[in-house]
Amino acid sequence: MAHPVPAQQSVPQPSEVSPGSPASSGQRLHLRRPDDWHVHLRDGAMLKAVVGATARQFARAIVMPNLSPAVTTAASASAYRQRILSALEPEAAVAFQPLMTAYLTETLDPEELVRGQAEGILTAAKLYPAGATTNSAAGVRDLAAIAPVLETMERIGLPLLVHGEVTDPEIDIFDREAVFLERHLVPLLARYPGLKVVLEHITTAEAAAFVAEAGPQLAATITPHHLHINRNSLFAGGLRPDFYCLPIAKRERHRLALRRAATSGDPSFFIGTDSAPHRREAKEASCGCAGIYNAPFAIESYAAVFEQDGALDKLEGFASEHGPRFYGLPLNSDGIILERQDPASEQAEAVPLTLELGSEAGSPLTLVPFHAGEALPWRLLA
Ligand code: DOR
Ligand code: ZN
Repeated sequence: MAHPVPAQQSVPQPSEVSPGSPASSGQRLHLRRPDDWHVHLRDGAMLKAVVGATARQFARAIVMPNLSPAVTTAASASAYRQRILSALEPEAAVAFQPLMTAYLTETLDPEELVRGQAEGILTAAKLYPAGATTNSAAGVRDLAAIAPVLETMERIGLPLLVHGEVTDPEIDIFDREAVFLERHLVPLLARYPGLKVVLEHITTAEAAAFVAEAGPQLAATITPHHLHINRNSLFAGGLRPDFYCLPIAKRERHRLALRRAATSGDPSFFIGTDSAPHRREAKEASCGCAGIYNAPFAIESYAAVFEQDGALDKLEGFASEHGPRFYGLPLNSDGIILERQDPASEQAEAVPLTLELGSEAGSPLTLVPFHAGEALPWRLLA
């Protein structure tokens, strides 16, 4: 179980790990317990298979509503929250708080959001441009069609979470995020200056710079995979479906810009894993699904980046403080401990190549985790 960290204590403790200098095996890093501000937990057998991995590390998680059918009402979000908690072991269900979101459609009644927020069910609402990604067909075609919804969210202080990609087939897939900023995000922020917006899973230097320069109205989540891989990873030695996600990984210069943003200490950037499990057969198919399943080793994955960039002292802000501050929620009061291992050593524990997580419709449910087969430098202690 987690080692409690006093509320005001800043971690990592310098006596244990000094930022910038390489840590050695057995050293420990104490962190205030982090939250995941963007995760896909799915439903049914998949939900049962994956939810424990998120609850093991994170106190809270913003749960994406792109089920089929989508979670569009306060009642369906409440029922989904109950299914999430029921899928956990009782002890984990007490400690873990799913934060629910509503999927915006062009026919959504703004009163649904008012009610959902007042009842303590909805923490945010998610904008999927129609056709941008998995289960987004019911999303928004024209932002003007949801103007009353956005006005209401601005008035009641309900954050808008944005999948920031245009769906215009004329626009190259690698440019869809940057074009979204110009075409849609700039006018949206100007039109609703009081609306809190999170640009989800940013993938470009343009997005990182835009968010850093915008005021407190705008923040961004960054996934572990976009900090580790670039677009070449998708084709390294052959077609690599496990690295296919949306927004798609970009050039190396973008990955480096994201790493600078994440490790900068700027409070506009925080964790959002975008862990998006698809069973192995659905990834390794002639038309494979977008999504990377990073939940089981997410905090370890981020810790590796912060260590490589000599910024372990910035990890706690990114993982555990910037998100709650943006959402206006309290910081978690308990903590987690990561232990250093030498990834090159023969004893190093590696991420499994596959995870067999029960069965779905009579066949085994196999997932390939992000970092499959790799040893990471920091391991979460149980
Ligand atoms: O890669 C992705 N997978 N990106 C998304 O935006 C959605 C997600 C999913 O739900 O599979
Ligand atoms: Zn997502």
